[in-house]
Amino acid sequence: MSKVTVVGAGKYGSTTVQRLAEADVCDEIVMTDIVEGLPQGLALDMNQARPIERYRTRVIGTNDYADTAGSDVVVITAGLPRKPGMSRMDLLGVNAKIVKGVTEAVVSHSPNAVLIVVTNPLDQMTTLAADVSGFPRSRVMGQAGNLDTARFVHFIAEKTGTDILEVRALTLGSHGETMVPIPSQCFIGTKPLTSVLDAATIEELVTRTRDGGAEIVALLKTGSAYYAPSSAAALMVKAVLGDTGEQMPVCAWTTGEYGVSDVYLGVPARIGAGGVREIVELPLTEGELAALHAAAGAVKEKVAELGAVDFG
Ligand code: NAI
Ligand code: 2OP
Repeated sequence: MSKVTVVGAGKYGSTTVQRLAEADVCDEIVMTDIVEGLPQGLALDMNQARPIERYRTRVIGTNDYADTAGSDVVVITAGLPRKPGMSRMDLLGVNAKIVKGVTEAVVSHSPNAVLIVVTNPLDQMTTLAADVSGFPRSRVMGQAGNLDTARFVHFIAEKTGTDILEVRALTLGSHGETMVPIPSQCFIGTKPLTSVLDAATIEELVTRTRDGGAEIVALLKTGSAYYAPSSAAALMVKAVLGDTGEQMPVCAWTTGEYGVSDVYLGVPARIGAGGVREIVELPLTEGELAALHAAAGAVKEKVAELGAVDFG
């Protein structure tokens, strides 16, 4: 039996459960939260959609980690989202405590699971979950690259008037200020993006992608994005469950690839049943590589800030 747990039944968590359930890719999805009744109510509602949407996956809402036992994949969304004007780093202290507690509870019941972290600040929370879990680092990864890349694709398609499915793009680095969009790996059909748009226009799209999360936070006024984010996490879960080896940008532990090591960073990786099968080294331009190195340095500095968090 294949089983997925999603921790946090808020916007991101519940939408991820919905997407996975409707995709009918596993037998059971357990959704858990600290708020009593929330995951249970959402699960009941989703299960009642099954005969209409035509899927068999059962959703179980619970506040008890015992129900998560034996999960193949666990997605950690528990935490607070950003509020307008709040940086991801402002979230560090409060979400670090939540992610530590959640990780301890999850791994004690699912010692063989692949962990996918989405809670912000993403790079730091992924590092923390890996440290706390004691899992091999290949089995712990973070979601940001699929989302940031999808945003970049959207902006390129809108700007060029291209069918969304004809655009390929890539973002690497960190989720935030040191996100590294990779124009040299972006294509419209078979044409390189750099041959279709001038450098200034590409830079405009890069900036909008980098600020993509904040743009939505400012519009919503309360909470952050969850439709594209949940699609991004669900894509990773599907690759793990199906052991597909699909290549996608994820926040993965680096061991020398791109000249970067000992840091969780957004890189292209093949994803399978054991998590990250391998990091794929693409031919980047000198400028893109330098930006990736800068991102790695910035993430290392931010991760060091975890040392100042009072876990009580
Ligand atoms: P939300 O506020 O709608 O949901 C968060 C849920 O976590 C709430 O239901 C809350 O009760 C629950 N929670 C809090 N502490 C918990 C604990 N100890 N155990 C279990 N559940 C707990 O927030 P939303 O929109 O779902 O976002 C969740 C996280 O995802 C935020 O940190 C947000 O910044 C992040 N995010 C990350 C993205 C990425 O690309 N990595 C994209 C979008 C959001
Ligand atoms: C996003 O990028 C806030 O990380 C969240 O939408």
